[in-house]
Amino acid sequence: MMKDQKYTATTMAGLEEVLAQELIKLGADEVQIGRRSVYFSGDLKMLYKANYCLRTALRILVPIDTYKIHSADDLYQRGKNFKWEDLFCIDQTFAIQSIVFSDLFNNSMFASLKLKDAIVDRFRYKFGERPSVNSKNPDILINLHIANEVCTISLDSSGESLHKRGYRLDQNEAPMSEVLAAGLIRLSDWDRKSELIDPMCGSGTIAIEAAMLANGIFPGSVRKNFAFKNWRSFNAQLFSGMEMEVNSNLPEPVRIFASDISRRNIDIAYKNAEAAGVLKLIDFKNSDFRNLEPTSENPFLLFNPPYGERLTPDDTNFYAMIGERLKHHYTNATVWIISTHSCLKSIGLRPSRKISILNGSLECSFRKYELYSGTKKMVADDHVSKE
Ligand SMILES: C[S@@+](CC[C@H](N)C(=O)[O-])C[C@H]1O[C@@H](n2cnc3c(N)ncnc32)[C@H](O)[C@@H]1O
Repeated sequence: MMKDQKYTATTMAGLEEVLAQELIKLGADEVQIGRRSVYFSGDLKMLYKANYCLRTALRILVPIDTYKIHSADDLYQRGKNFKWEDLFCIDQTFAIQSIVFSDLFNNSMFASLKLKDAIVDRFRYKFGERPSVNSKNPDILINLHIANEVCTISLDSSGESLHKRGYRLDQNEAPMSEVLAAGLIRLSDWDRKSELIDPMCGSGTIAIEAAMLANGIFPGSVRKNFAFKNWRSFNAQLFSGMEMEVNSNLPEPVRIFASDISRRNIDIAYKNAEAAGVLKLIDFKNSDFRNLEPTSENPFLLFNPPYGERLTPDDTNFYAMIGERLKHHYTNATVWIISTHSCLKSIGLRPSRKISILNGSLECSFRKYELYSGTKKMVADDHVSKE
């Protein structure tokens, strides 16, 4: 078994800290935070576990070669000398994803091409035949990272990004990334016991991720495909042993409440929850937030209301309505809302925490409102991401 291999888990800006915490909890060693990534080490089982269990990682990369280059040809030569045949077979397809910050290459496509030629020529030289490239659905995904003269080649053990859990059968017009939803739930102080409410659930991502988290259901139990299953080194027994181990300890069921003004979105969320195996844990309701009453004494709300890139008078009124409704009907509630800075200004409530975070490419703020009837000292602003 591989011992103490170094790995890199990539994530979204602002979620590095929560990802590091997840890794520590899984038992990873040498956990270190980077930019949109967390480095860690562990054995092969840890690699399988990271792919299967992590909720806030996008990919798990396994660095296989790091070296200095002085020309594009250096990339080719070193690539041609690498024993690719130990990692995969001629009849498997491959693809290369590159990120290049270097004057040695005009664009990342050129770097990918150089490495592709090296791999193909290596196989031709060894066996007289070459594997094919499949950029859409490769068996083997190779990650090439060049920063100035330092070149790192990694195997992407995940393949398709891990935010693709496999439960999203359909979506509304503005679905949230599953990784962002899981990250926001972790950034909030939800105790994972009290009912979590998403009153504008859209396709249900926040509710589904919350139900999976609180009920100990790992993303890997829904998603079946990981690139490491195509590697020559894949150990099916080790994988199923890990799967049994992590699924052996189920907590007490925790309920989630999700509602939306759109009947169509509720239907979509319902189907997605069914695919995720959490349908029994979520109560769905087709309701306008203007009429929604809390179901418990200390409600915990986490949601993302609609927003555009620019603030319109409609947005101002809509957010003022949210603020009013919360103030008058949700006394003793803890509320977390993600939206743009300008939309959130119209809410008219004072946040006790603010976290800057990107939703796609849009700069957003994730804010906490504590709606106690008495006065309460507010906590200072807290910027997790400096994006
Ligand atoms: C940005 S989307 C939420 C996306 C969701 N988090 C997901 O992952 O799919 C906002 C949602 O708010 C809903 N909505 C808009 N006005 C509403 C209202 N007054 N009451 C309840 N839901 C509303 C929309 O139908 C839409 O589904």
